[in-house]
Amino acid sequence: MQTPVDATSTSAWAELTKLHDAFTPDLRGAFAADPERASRYSFDAADLHVDLSKNFLDDEVLAALLELAEQVKLPEMREAMFTGQHINVTEDRAVLHTALRLPRDAELVVDGQDVVADVHEVLDKIYVWAEKIRSGEWKGVTGKPITTVVNIGIGGSDLGPVMVYEALKPYKTGPDARFISNIDPNDCAEKVADLDPEQTLFIVASKTFTTLETLTNARMAREWLLGKLAESGAIDGSDEQATDAVAKHFVAVSTALDKVAAFGIDPENAFGFWNWVGGRYSVGSAVGTSVIVALGKENWENFLAGMHAMDVHFRETEPGRNVPLLMGLLNVWYTNFFGAESHAVLPYAQYLHRFAAYLQQLTMESNGKRVRWDGSEVTTGTGEIFWGEPGTNGQHAFYQLIHQGTKLIPADFIAVANPAHPVKDGETDVHELFLSNFFAQTAALAFGKTADEVRAEGTAEAIVPARTFPGNRPTTSIMASWLTPAVVGELIALYEHITFVEGIVWGIDSFDQWGVELGKQLALQIAPAVQGDQDAKAKQDSSTQGLIDYYLAHREN
Ligand code: F6P
Repeated sequence: MQTPVDATSTSAWAELTKLHDAFTPDLRGAFAADPERASRYSFDAADLHVDLSKNFLDDEVLAALLELAEQVKLPEMREAMFTGQHINVTEDRAVLHTALRLPRDAELVVDGQDVVADVHEVLDKIYVWAEKIRSGEWKGVTGKPITTVVNIGIGGSDLGPVMVYEALKPYKTGPDARFISNIDPNDCAEKVADLDPEQTLFIVASKTFTTLETLTNARMAREWLLGKLAESGAIDGSDEQATDAVAKHFVAVSTALDKVAAFGIDPENAFGFWNWVGGRYSVGSAVGTSVIVALGKENWENFLAGMHAMDVHFRETEPGRNVPLLMGLLNVWYTNFFGAESHAVLPYAQYLHRFAAYLQQLTMESNGKRVRWDGSEVTTGTGEIFWGEPGTNGQHAFYQLIHQGTKLIPADFIAVANPAHPVKDGETDVHELFLSNFFAQTAALAFGKTADEVRAEGTAEAIVPARTFPGNRPTTSIMASWLTPAVVGELIALYEHITFVEGIVWGIDSFDQWGVELGKQLALQIAPAVQGDQDAKAKQDSSTQGLIDYYLAHREN
């Protein structure tokens, strides 16, 4: 693996520094000077139409950013990823989530393994099994069909499936899906409270099958299932009947099928994937099993085809029209030259209400790093803070700060032209009203409202400053025709590749996550203290001891 290029030592970085020093954001002026600006900086990527024109961008900046990509050897690293080289250096692994969506007739052999054949073998196994659930052929222990599947997983084994399930609700043709992730026992308790155990099936999804939250929740779900079935007399409490019930109401998704068996789930009822799929990049793998049950094979194939279309776009499109490349480079421009700390993602699509949460793991677990893949310190800031909420809700919550606050927050706006549920309010098309907000916000952010415009409305001089909008808040607008399975796949792959681009510029391994280990280890060490072990408590710092004492003094059950 080549050593990372220090981006800050490249001539392109020096050029960007120079351009930044001379750059005065003036989006009003830029649009006035160039009537073609919107069309020159708008690009299509698969089914997505992406308008970058309201960004701090001109041809010189664009050229320097693209030159930076060349100088940090981004094309070579991209090829290394797509061909299965071990670019996850700290774990010595290939990074092949793009292989999960390769068509059946593609060819990719990595480390001596026919990856495409492996991927489609598992997909076929899931499709056959999912169809049995969907058709009612698969029966629970009392002979009833399954009406709800409950995915138990956390991080990448939760956020992807729940986001896609929510995004594609209009395409649901099968059982309901629910998602338990938090080790807070209230999560599991609430999610199963109204379920019929005879018609519920749990999918335990964990890449490693060691994650404390997931295994604890899986045990709680097993207790609940067996307890409820015994309570109603559906099973008699014998070991044989318990084993039979678990076999009919539990399946697993994991790379560690030996650990699945140790948990008591028959490996026959398990769907595998591979350690070259990172958890936060795993939604297109067997981790999506709950969604496949809910949506069916055809929709899932369209979802994977959408991801693949974006992969092809990223791999093959010329740099100046390559949307993930351009968006990733713009994020570097804002982070490293304008000092932006965070990045808002604002879908004007209620079905995408979990998209920002999903992106938080994708982007922040990937690029929240302070050393490069060769172990050296990074030489510049890394890792944007991604956050967001669907519009228009966010407009009535945090947009004030984006419009008139002192922080620069680049924002991605996402909308589709057609709603799943067209509705009129009198003569008004409600989706058009909704989209008017989408169009209005990016215009207001870019162009603001000058003091003279405020005065011209007759505003009292004393409050003119408060009612003036400075503008020059950069945004990217992403549109598609419909929120189809393919479009959702394209959006996910788009942000995966944006994340990759940023990681390569910063020289970091975007595919490990050592930073989440410490908290996991400490939680295990502290657990005995929370249970009252004085010696274990004495090993903690005084603040932690005080908090545990508070808990012990106040717990009532
Ligand atoms: O948060 C750390 C992490 O390892 C994530 O990367 C991963 O998605 C999550 O935990 C769950 O891991 P697993 O799928 O192995 O249970």
